[in-house]
This record gives sequence, structure tokens and C-alpha cells, in this order.
Amino acid sequence: MRRALQLAATPGVPHGPNPRVGCVLLADDGTEVAEGFHRGAGTPHAEAAALAEAGESARGTTAVVTLEPCNHTGRTGPCAEALIAAGIRRVVHAASDQSSVATGGADRLRAAGIEVEGGLMADDARALNRAWTFAVEHGRPYVTWKFATTLDGRSAAADGTSRWVSSRAARLDTHRLRAECDTMLVGANTVVVDDPELTVRDEVDEPVARQPLRAVMGLRDLPADRRVLNDRAETVQLRTRDPREALELLHQRGRQHVFLEGGPTLAAAFLEAGLVDEVVCYVAPMLLGAGTSAVADLGITTIAEALRLHVDDVHVLQGHDGEDTNVRLTMRRH
Ligand SMILES: NC(=O)c1ccc[n+]([C@@H]2O[C@H](COP(=O)([O-])OP(=O)(O)OC[C@H]3O[C@@H](n4cnc5c(N)ncnc54)[C@H](OP(=O)(O)O)[C@@H]3O)[C@@H](O)[C@H]2O)c1
Repeated sequence: MRRALQLAATPGVPHGPNPRVGCVLLADDGTEVAEGFHRGAGTPHAEAAALAEAGESARGTTAVVTLEPCNHTGRTGPCAEALIAAGIRRVVHAASDQSSVATGGADRLRAAGIEVEGGLMADDARALNRAWTFAVEHGRPYVTWKFATTLDGRSAAADGTSRWVSSRAARLDTHRLRAECDTMLVGANTVVVDDPELTVRDEVDEPVARQPLRAVMGLRDLPADRRVLNDRAETVQLRTRDPREALELLHQRGRQHVFLEGGPTLAAAFLEAGLVDEVVCYVAPMLLGAGTSAVADLGITTIAEALRLHVDDVHVLQGHDGEDTNVRLTMRRH
């Protein structure tokens, strides 16, 4: 299963819309007969890839899969049927597939007389497809709120200027995290004030091939000259101020992981609605003493009501060539 998880996490495999899955076929003496992994929507599933590699020698083997084999026909046929047809003797899977379209694979295999065992390293498998699993179970996308702040919690100076609070290393790191999401979301005012392009760019500032959806939330018409409306990626305007409705609209478009990039008004709306699942914060060693707070009023007036977060990770981004050193905090709600 460890090898299957490794295969599933092969670099370059997109994080969505399909789950990342790996599969290893084992002979009775534990030797590996074949392996495969899913390369993304529209390509063969991990089981099909492993079966194709094994050919006739798949018969009688144990299939070790990171996700319960699917039971539905999408762009490819059901994996449960393919495993049955190939004469697999036993299936060991990690996570269960709760998605309404694909669930039921284990039952189908059992009905065909195949021994099925589930749950091996299930936590690792769920973590591997964190956003996909969350979206399936909660019926909405997973939300990561990312922001950059000064030491005194400011995201912009008193005159509105905010370039650049974070260092180049922090901005590069942000592009890496953006690439793991399928949607970047900002409030209409950030588009007006900052004019961000909201694309994923590489080390030499070139846009990468696969771009997440750009979503702008707010009721106003956006000025036509804003960079977020250029043709480097798809853009959608969510004409609502209700975070729940915005996530519903994105969920309907099959979106599973929203990277919420501000500004303070939008962040506060999502926090107040309890719709921020993860917080990534870049802290810059600078003080402003005045200016925009990184998050707008949350209606909290006393310390006992503070919205508290649990720190999962602290990472130092060393400054080079005279740049500041920044600290990245990755947090979850309690
Ligand atoms: N440091 C950082 O990480 C960071 C990140 C982003 C932005 N910023 C800074 O933040 C500043 C902009 O802040 P902001 O708070 O005005 O921007 P914002 O949150 O991006 O946009 C606010 C706008 O979003 C719309 N909106 C959507 N949902 C809303 C809701 N529930 N309640 C109210 N409005 C809602 C409204 O537009 P409509 O009126 O059209 O409905 C509202 O005017 C800029 O100076 C920018 O530089 C900093």
C-alpha cells in the first residue's frame, strides 16, 4: 500500500477533479506483478493501468489500491468489473469511495466472490486526496485562506499600498500552493485596487500550462481592463456576497479546493460563516502601525471570543539578495 500511495502521488498528476490513485498487483508470494496510477481525468484508472501492464498474469493476484475501486462508467469503464474480468483473487483498498457516482465497488467485487478488505492506511489515502475527500463528504469545496501580513497584522498601508508585503520566496511559495487548488477566489475590491492577474506562474514568472479557475466575488461590474479578465485563464464572477452561495456555485462547477486570497472583507465573511478550513499566513518582518487589518471586523469584542487556530506547520522562507525572511504558518480551525 505504501508503494501504491507513492505511485498515486507521482509528481505532475493533477490534484483534481479526479482523486489521485495508485494500484499494485501482487502474486501470492508478495512479489509485484504490475503497478499503475491514474494520470488525471479522461485517462485510465489506476487499476486499469496495472491490469494492462500485467496482461494475463493478473489472474489470481491481489490488487492493492489506494481507493475503493469504482463502480461506475464515466469516461472509462467501472474498475470493479475490470478486476472481476481479469480474475483478480483479492482486493485490499485504503480509503472508501463515498462519491455518489462511484460508490459500491467493494460490494460489487464481493458479490462476484472476490475477497475484499478496506481501510489499510486509509488516513494516508484520505490525506493524499484531502480536497477531493472533503468535497465528497461535505458537498462543498475545501477552503484555504491565504494572506500576507506585517508583524502587526496589516495587509496594506494607510494609503492602500500593499506591494510587496511578502518576500519573493513567499510569493513563489504561494504560486506552488495555488497550483494545488482548482480555484482562486478574491473580492471585487482587490481586483479594483490591486489588479492581480491571479495566474500560477513559474520561477521565471511564466504562466504554467494548467491554470486554476479565477473567481471574483461581489455585486459590482468589474472594470474591463482588469488583468483578471485576460485570456491567460478562465474567470468567473460570482455575483453574490454570500460565501455559502459562492461555494455552492463553485461546487456546481465541480470545484473542490478554493484558495481564498482576500481581501480582508471577503476573508472576514468566510471566517464568520465558518467556511475557512485551513489558513496559510506569510508573516513579514515589518511594522506599519496603521493601515488595513489583515482581516475585517469579525464582531469579536472580548478575548474569550477570539477565533482560535491550531498550528500544523511553521516554515521559515529565507530571504536572499537582500529580501526579507518570511515565516509561513499553516493552521486549521480548532
Ligand atoms: N495582504 C494580502 O494578503 C492581501 C490580499 C488581498 C487584498 N489585500 C488588500 O486588501 C485591500 C482590499 O480590501 P477589501 O476588503 O476592500 O477587498 P475584498 O475583500 O477583496 O473585496 C471587498 C468586496 O468584495 C465584495 N464582497 C463579496 N462578499 C462580500 C461580503 N460578504 N461582504 C462585503 N463585501 C463582499 C464586495 O464587492 P461589491 O461591492 O462589488 O459587492 C466588497 O466591496 C487592498 O488594499 C488589497 O491590497 C491584501
